[in-house]
Amino acid sequence: MPCLPTFPVIWIANLQHIDENARHLLALLTPAEKARRLCFRQVADQKRFMVGRALTRLAISSQLRCPAQEVNIVLTRNGKPKLDPNLTTLTFSIAHSGDLVVVALLARGAVGVDVERFAPEVVPEVLIPMVCSLLEAKEIRSLPTHKQRVKRLLSLWTLKEAYLKAIGVGLTTDPRKVTFNLDAQLQPTLLAPPEGDLPDQFAHGWKFIVMPDYGEYVLALAVQNMHRDAGSTLTPCWHDAGILLASATRPLKE
Ligand SMILES: CC(C)(COP(=O)(O)OP(=O)(O)OC[C@H]1O[C@@H](n2cnc3c(N)ncnc32)[C@H](O)[C@@H]1OP(=O)(O)O)[C@@H](O)C(=O)NCCC(=O)NCCS
Repeated sequence: MPCLPTFPVIWIANLQHIDENARHLLALLTPAEKARRLCFRQVADQKRFMVGRALTRLAISSQLRCPAQEVNIVLTRNGKPKLDPNLTTLTFSIAHSGDLVVVALLARGAVGVDVERFAPEVVPEVLIPMVCSLLEAKEIRSLPTHKQRVKRLLSLWTLKEAYLKAIGVGLTTDPRKVTFNLDAQLQPTLLAPPEGDLPDQFAHGWKFIVMPDYGEYVLALAVQNMHRDAGSTLTPCWHDAGILLASATRPLKE
């Protein structure tokens, strides 16, 4: 019987240390995933996709104690990758940006993760109308420095993506319909979930973390209905994925 964690488990891979044609990682992809990888024109995007799916299988395999190649990932209508809920309660989420690939696992409940490289050249006034609710826009514009405005904007952006991934809709839902409050320490609270067809199961029990200074990245995590033993504070268990990815180097059948 596998032992599922009572808290979110986060694996972070740095792509700088990984070959884009790493055979041991490619071998973990299904034929459909190998075909999809080749649909990306940029080699960097091919690599992000390959590492995301390979790392997801390895992370799930270490949690469920099954061979990584047997981890069956299916896609919902909105493109959310998931496991068969009849087989396990384990859920996961994948994000990539720049050199980072992040995979979040949760024993049961919903989980979403997002990561964005902090780009100082971001022009807040270009993104605010696409991403922010009126309240969020007002708060960003009231900040005195460009750096503070960009940091708050990217914090909100990653939080929204993490949340919209957790509920499985992604950007099919307008991110401006979701409002987060960030206090002075950028601690997030969900003020307004998207109105309309949000299933009841997603109404309550959310916890969020945003890390606006994860090196040159902003990273956010959305978690709902964690295991009841996990306590009231969201305390993920962070792992460097290097060892896990290297563990797949033993020969595998293609
Ligand atoms: C989810 C979404 C916001 C990700 O945006 P992004 O910033 O470009 O990429 P990220 O690196 O942050 O996340 C990508 C990952 O999100 C996951 N994802 C995709 N759609 C998702 C969804 N609806 N819900 C949850 N997660 C989703 C995937 O794991 C994807 O990585 P992978 O394909 O390599 O496995 C965006 O792709 C989206 O809105 N997708 C849904 C709408 C859509 O285009 N559907 C197509 C129908 S198949």
